[in-house]
Amino acid sequence: MSRLDVVDLVAGYDGPPIVQGVSLWAESGQVVVVLGANGAGKSTLIKSVVGIVPPSGGSVTFDGKTVTGMPPYKLVRLGVGYLPQLMNVFDELTVTENLEMGAFSFRQDAHHRIAEVFEMFDDLARKPHARAGTLSGGQQRMLALARALMSQPKIVILDEPTAGLSPAYADRVWDQVMRLREQGIGFLVVEQTVRVALKHADFAVVLSNGRKIAAGAPTEIGSETELAALFVG
Ligand SMILES: Nc1ncnc2c1ncn2[C@@H]1O[C@H](COP(=O)(O)OP(=O)(O)OP(=O)(O)O)[C@@H](O)[C@H]1O
Ligand SMILES: [Mg+2]
Repeated sequence: MSRLDVVDLVAGYDGPPIVQGVSLWAESGQVVVVLGANGAGKSTLIKSVVGIVPPSGGSVTFDGKTVTGMPPYKLVRLGVGYLPQLMNVFDELTVTENLEMGAFSFRQDAHHRIAEVFEMFDDLARKPHARAGTLSGGQQRMLALARALMSQPKIVILDEPTAGLSPAYADRVWDQVMRLREQGIGFLVVEQTVRVALKHADFAVVLSNGRKIAAGAPTEIGSETELAALFVG
């Protein structure tokens, strides 16, 4: 079992803090979803968890080890993967080369791992030599997710993995996340669509103006309409 704990995190840019004391955790085999309106501070929270925006208060621990402010490339070695909101696959590289990039510190086993990852993503397995830039938006998103899995993370942090995708492809991305959850991977996912978030989450956290205004299992946190109203309020 792995667990990522975020306690009273405070973070922002120049000016007053955007994230104002948020606590949550993610653990193996669970999907924790962060919900909130545009500008609520979801991405800033995630970026401060992975050290891209250095926290000015609070702490992050992974399996009991303090990792506050630790950058993604170090977190990945401990078993925490991160996919930013704007997915960057390397357009000019092939599918296989993109996956190799995800294995940077595990290169010895890259081929074996690529074979395993291809078993999870048939779309990608069918075109290992296609340049990433020629894939559809949905396939690129799958490739970014697949790349994050190359390092065999225990916890994966995804910032709006389905933004901009057709509902059908968004479902496929979520199906993949749920399959990985069954294998014991833990997820912390920003998802803007309340219905989709509640359908998949084991636990949901609602942010408004950088604060946690609600949290709980989907059955206890409130209806879709109530949550949508919270966003606006
Ligand atoms: N690089 C930045 N510099 C300064 N302010 C920023 C920066 N990025 C975000 N902000 C501000 O922080 C606040 C929260 O933005 P953030 O991107 O965290 O929200 P979000 O909940 O992820 O929104 P969205 O749903 O649109 O992705 C906003 O007021 C935004 O303008
Ligand atoms: Mg965001």
